[in-house]
Amino acid sequence: MRIQRQLTRTRPQPGDSPDLEQLRQLLADQPTDSSKLIPLLQATQQMYGYIPGQAFAMISEATGVPVSDIYGVATFYAQFRLKPVGKHIVKVCHGTACHVQNANAITDALKEALQIEENETTPDGMFTLESVACLGCCSLAPVMMVGDETHGKLTGKTATRIIKDMKNDTCRKQQ
Ligand code: FES
Repeated sequence: MRIQRQLTRTRPQPGDSPDLEQLRQLLADQPTDSSKLIPLLQATQQMYGYIPGQAFAMISEATGVPVSDIYGVATFYAQFRLKPVGKHIVKVCHGTACHVQNANAITDALKEALQIEENETTPDGMFTLESVACLGCCSLAPVMMVGDETHGKLTGKTATRIIKDMKNDTCRKQQ
């Protein structure tokens, strides 16, 4: 079962040096101060998929907030990432409803299929695997979200099938 969510993001692949021109524009286009810190971090992450190291200095200059304080905020909130992520972020729900429906089996199967641990990215930069709290679709438990799509009523087998199909699709498009 799939639920489409609208979200646009242009982000470099892991290993790329992000072009910070887009952030430079954003900071130049609107007045910023310390009260805009969290929205600015969110916007930066929306643009790049994570908060690049160089962005801290740029945001600091624009808002007047010391880099160490910005870093403190970015590391305090779980929503912010400080490392590049894969093209597809696989979020396996480990909220209560999914946990009792054996979400662990989903994560274990995906770890095996992708050959990575949680919070790691596959060497080809395709997938990052994460565990998250309730995704808000408890009636479909166990649930995972891949990019903007939510998949419910999963087993380890169906979860890995979804990932394998995505890999095969990518391979077909590259041929
Ligand atoms: S607990 Fe998994 S969607 Fe709510």
